[in-house]
Amino acid sequence: RAQADPHRPRFHFVSPAGWLNDPNGLGLWDGTYHLFYQYNPYSPVHDRIHWGHATSTDLVRWTDEPVALVPGETGPDVEGCWSGVLVDDGGTPTIVYSGRHDGRELPCVATGSSDLRAWTPVEENPVIAATPPGVDVTAFRDHCVWREDGRWRQLVGSGIRGRGGAAFLYDSTDLRSWEYVGPLVVGDASIGEAGEPDWTGTMWECVDLFRLTAQDAARDVLVFSAWDEGVTHHPLYWIGAYEGDVFTPHRLGRLDYGGRHFYAPQTFQDVQGRRLVFGWLQEGRPDAASLLAGWSGVMSLPRHVTLAPDGTLAQEPAAEVSLLRRGGIRTVPGRLSAGERRVVAITGDQLDLEIDVVLTAGSSLELDVRAAGPVDDAAGERTRLLLERDGGGAIMLRLDRSRSSLDAAVDATPRSGEVPTEPDGAVRLRVIVDHSALEVFANGRPLTARIYPTRPDATGVELAASSGAVTVTRLESWHMADAWDHRSRELWPGT
Ligand code: FRU
Repeated sequence: RAQADPHRPRFHFVSPAGWLNDPNGLGLWDGTYHLFYQYNPYSPVHDRIHWGHATSTDLVRWTDEPVALVPGETGPDVEGCWSGVLVDDGGTPTIVYSGRHDGRELPCVATGSSDLRAWTPVEENPVIAATPPGVDVTAFRDHCVWREDGRWRQLVGSGIRGRGGAAFLYDSTDLRSWEYVGPLVVGDASIGEAGEPDWTGTMWECVDLFRLTAQDAARDVLVFSAWDEGVTHHPLYWIGAYEGDVFTPHRLGRLDYGGRHFYAPQTFQDVQGRRLVFGWLQEGRPDAASLLAGWSGVMSLPRHVTLAPDGTLAQEPAAEVSLLRRGGIRTVPGRLSAGERRVVAITGDQLDLEIDVVLTAGSSLELDVRAAGPVDDAAGERTRLLLERDGGGAIMLRLDRSRSSLDAAVDATPRSGEVPTEPDGAVRLRVIVDHSALEVFANGRPLTARIYPTRPDATGVELAASSGAVTVTRLESWHMADAWDHRSRELWPGT
């Protein structure tokens, strides 16, 4: 059932069947990449969460592994094994996760076999028995754990009622007994409008602290998923300085302009020293459609995160993504005058496109993907991406899904965000289409979304200058191969 769904991606990781949400326990172990994920193998709904597990040697082709964590029949994780991380405890693979019990979560630990396939929760669970004393928390879950000066440090995502999201800091020598240090950083939910794309929310899910260096600059980054019940779900980051027991935020950034469609990201560092991130692409179709399809949730492609010259984060698909490219077509469309439209030679629902464009002030480029039918045809479908340069030189990336699908029940919320500019108005655009998954990068700024065209012929790609003149200096396109043998997955238990 799941395999026959035309919306099911084929080179993004999806669970064999059932429900998938956050990436967990990302890491490289003896040359193998491990991707664990929030998983309900029994049904495509969020319920009694397990940890699914897959491995890869190249970050793009994955092999399913046995389910790693299963909620206990009783005890601290009886209602689910929620998000967490993988650490190397002197050679012992160790998971720190949130055990759910009685409708709330507390930190738990499990140790793994050397192949990371068999996991045993430790007797001491929950390893932190209560939320910080005297603090009225909105929630308390998700973990970031690292080694520092001969001890372990841990952040737990949280929020202080009446104030805002927070990350609480703990210390340990053995991962089993933890001492509360204090709040590493607390947000201010009164700044900004609730629900706006840069509002920091009342709870920070999936906190992730790391250091990035570029040339001679080092910056500390705290990635978090701003959350507020029914109001907000989007990934943000603070650039700041982590010193002593405090993180001083200097500037806030949006990690992805797609909001909830790139949620609960987790990063890790690989042997080459690259900082890589995966995020969860939530569905944009009704739950009933997921139930019918038998699966829900897509993992993003791996992204390489770097520090941009302007001090913000830049993201690009990891170089390994190009291993899936087949049959490249390279063209130089050149200058398009206002209103001019071109059909791009490639068609399909598994594509990777690289477009270099120069925008004059007041001009805008439109790229349509998954297009069917003539423009302005009410029975047609097309997902429109726009790069707009205003008179002042600022460039915006916009996603217009108003005509993405003839199915009125799917999400069509407009998305947009600023693109860092070059003096000459040049933009490097990268667009990856994988059935219902869409990942766009414009000068390193990502916008992720889900699209559900209904027409089998919604495979067209078109370029247009929607206003002013634009010059496309390079357009390269590829078909993308499937990331795994889909037939083999039908044999997977749980399907
Ligand atoms: C984020 C999240 C985490 C939690 C997990 C539960 O999407 O809500 O905060 O640990 O998912 O599945």
